[in-house]
Amino acid sequence: MVGTEGEKAVDIRRLRVDTGYVAYDQGYGDTASCESAITYLDGDNGILRCRGYPIEQLAQHSNFIETAYLVIYGELPNAARRKDFGMLLRQNAAIETQMQRIFEGFPKDAPPMAMLSSIFASLAAYYPHLATNDFAKDLASFDMAAAMAISKVRTIGAMLYRYQSGLPYVFPKQDLPFCENFLHMMFSEPYKEYVAVPEVSRALNLLLLLHADHEQNCSTSTVRMVGSSAANLFTSISAGICALSGPLHGGANSAVVQMLQAIHDDGDDGSRFIQAAKSGNKSNRLMGFGHAVYKNFDPRAKIIGKACDDLLKKLGVNDPLLDIAKRLDETALKDDYFISRKLYPNVDFYSGIIMRALGIPVSLFTVVFAIGRTPGWIANWHEVASTPKGRIYRPRQIYIGPKRREYVQMAERP
Ligand code: ACO
Repeated sequence: MVGTEGEKAVDIRRLRVDTGYVAYDQGYGDTASCESAITYLDGDNGILRCRGYPIEQLAQHSNFIETAYLVIYGELPNAARRKDFGMLLRQNAAIETQMQRIFEGFPKDAPPMAMLSSIFASLAAYYPHLATNDFAKDLASFDMAAAMAISKVRTIGAMLYRYQSGLPYVFPKQDLPFCENFLHMMFSEPYKEYVAVPEVSRALNLLLLLHADHEQNCSTSTVRMVGSSAANLFTSISAGICALSGPLHGGANSAVVQMLQAIHDDGDDGSRFIQAAKSGNKSNRLMGFGHAVYKNFDPRAKIIGKACDDLLKKLGVNDPLLDIAKRLDETALKDDYFISRKLYPNVDFYSGIIMRALGIPVSLFTVVFAIGRTPGWIANWHEVASTPKGRIYRPRQIYIGPKRREYVQMAERP
């Protein structure tokens, strides 16, 4: 098989039936699990395109909601479509009173991603008509479900922050754009409404846009896998949120800031840490460096590194962690250990510093990543749901456990 951009693949769908062999590819690093028309990624050359558009152009000219529409529907929206989409998002931003009670059932110090995935999953219970677990019916109400997912994941994110901080909820405002509305729900105080300065809303837009989709990563593959069983959009995305919570995936942005803070608290300028990172010990890894597919550079890291610098300058923020990050970046890029292993900064290396500058607490970083990634999850679920004769994802394994043995009772039963 040959893809649009010339990437070649071997179709082994009949391998086991015809030969009795299966292919072994632990972690699926060399396996294409699907055909997809959403995102093109060339990790060797640092290329990322959404629906054909280079990420650099989207970052420069688009915003999160327009890119979300592009990712989901395949084309940039014209004025009328953009207006309708925006309206649907605004109309579906709020969390109903009964659903708000779920928040109070969680401990105040619950991991935010555990709260987000559970509360998001409950959308299938509150809106069962949009989540029937029947592809044809769920596709018929897809526009509404997609808008709800994008709009409500953001509202849930802001509400769980308010709940965990012991602050009263701030409800979404119909007249605010998407990012401004999130910041309003996060940071408004009684009688003092938070109004985002343009630099701040631009930075948040960029951050979310850069995360909008990223091909068959761990969480997106999870969404597709769960969706392939005909599970509805909300349930499938909730599984994706769980997958994103791991530190080797979405949790890396908070790990980066924690690492930079520890370096700072140790009075290290980064050089001691770099030495430790070269030991090969997984617990000393330079977080925010390396990527499963980018073996050149992560184009998102270039964009976000510059945006980070610009934002901090514009806001007049002097963050010592940014200085340490830059030093680590420069040192690692000259060091043979990192060069020979093709380890370059990934998007998470600077995204945490941007979020700090926006006032977003470290505990919420992965939640913000999830808000950004929701359009990609939606688009991938839609591809699975609308693929005629698509089959359930069901890989094989190579069994390495004990051979058949006979049962012998080991202890008296109580
Ligand atoms: N710091 C130091 N050494 C590293 C790092 C790192 N961040 N990443 C990889 N290495 C080393 C490994 O020790 C290994 O060395 P060896 O060949 O001497 O054994 C070599 O580089 C290859 O490592 P792998 O783990 O095989 O590389 P892989 O491509 O599978 O891993 C991963 C990619 C998981 C992202 C890894 O680079 C890592 O753990 N990075 C830090 C966590 C991180 O930033 N994750 C975010 C990913 S981006 C995202 O999800 C949005």
